[in-house]
Amino acid sequence: MSDNSVVGKHILITGGASGIGAESALLLSKRGASVTIADVNEVDGAILVQRINDEGGQARFCKVDVSVSQSVEMLFKSAIDELGNIDVLINNAGIDHDPKFMLEIDDATFHKNIAVNVNGVWYCMKQALAHMLENGGGHVINISSVAGIRAAPTLSAYSAAKHAVVGLTKSAAVEYARYNIRFNAVCPSFVRTPMVENVLSKLDERGKKALINANPMKRLGEPQEIAGAIAWLCTPESSFMTGHTVVLDGGMTA
Ligand SMILES: NC(=O)c1ccc[n+]([C@@H]2O[C@H](COP(=O)([O-])OP(=O)(O)OC[C@H]3O[C@@H](n4cnc5c(N)ncnc54)[C@H](O)[C@@H]3O)[C@@H](O)[C@H]2O)c1
Repeated sequence: MSDNSVVGKHILITGGASGIGAESALLLSKRGASVTIADVNEVDGAILVQRINDEGGQARFCKVDVSVSQSVEMLFKSAIDELGNIDVLINNAGIDHDPKFMLEIDDATFHKNIAVNVNGVWYCMKQALAHMLENGGGHVINISSVAGIRAAPTLSAYSAAKHAVVGLTKSAAVEYARYNIRFNAVCPSFVRTPMVENVLSKLDERGKKALINANPMKRLGEPQEIAGAIAWLCTPESSFMTGHTVVLDGGMTA
């Protein structure tokens, strides 16, 4: 097996039914990993699993709401029962919110962003940790955002949640390095996924242009470009990296 191989690894991807998670599932299964795709969206998850299995890969769908701890507990039990020990967890499930100044964001929106984007990552990290400790090691890849490393005006609730994801990643990496469990975060800027298509659909032409031109490359990232970096993190080539953020932003934060 070459150093850049994911062959035979079992990779669990939350939010795997759409966008960055779905592209990651497609790429990793093409490269020989077996994937558990976990999502609230059963319809798209089932379609993706069918496609991967039809193309000769090994995938399984599991319904989960990452904001509910019992649901996450059941996900891990079922994923391990069906496809064996989990080598890599990709904590990718996430939501955003309508762009608004802080005073206009209601408490329910803030709490929902924390529930999915922070509590969801927390519950999954804890399940993965217990399992990986027993298993002798593993890697957790948390999908944060450039909104997790710098200001994101009009996205304060999302930004708070994504900063928390980076904090959890760093602390866990230092605590568990001695147990052969690594934690890294991926921080994309705007990527062409249903999440961003939805934002674009609500903007006028000037707003759309501003969003697309927000980085020096003056374009959106493609989900395949994020999946490529995630897939590299899943290989042994990233073995000395823990507690860091991989920023994929077209130069936005340079
Ligand atoms: N698209 C971007 O520009 C961008 C930029 C930076 C970070 N991100 C982050 O990347 C990740 C993936 O985003 P995307 O753009 O592919 O979005 P997406 O909306 O296409 O996919 C997100 C997936 O998460 C699932 N999900 C939402 N809530 C869930 C829950 N409670 N439990 C389980 N699954 C749930 C959705 O059903 C969906 O399939 C998110 O964490 C997002 O915050 C996206």
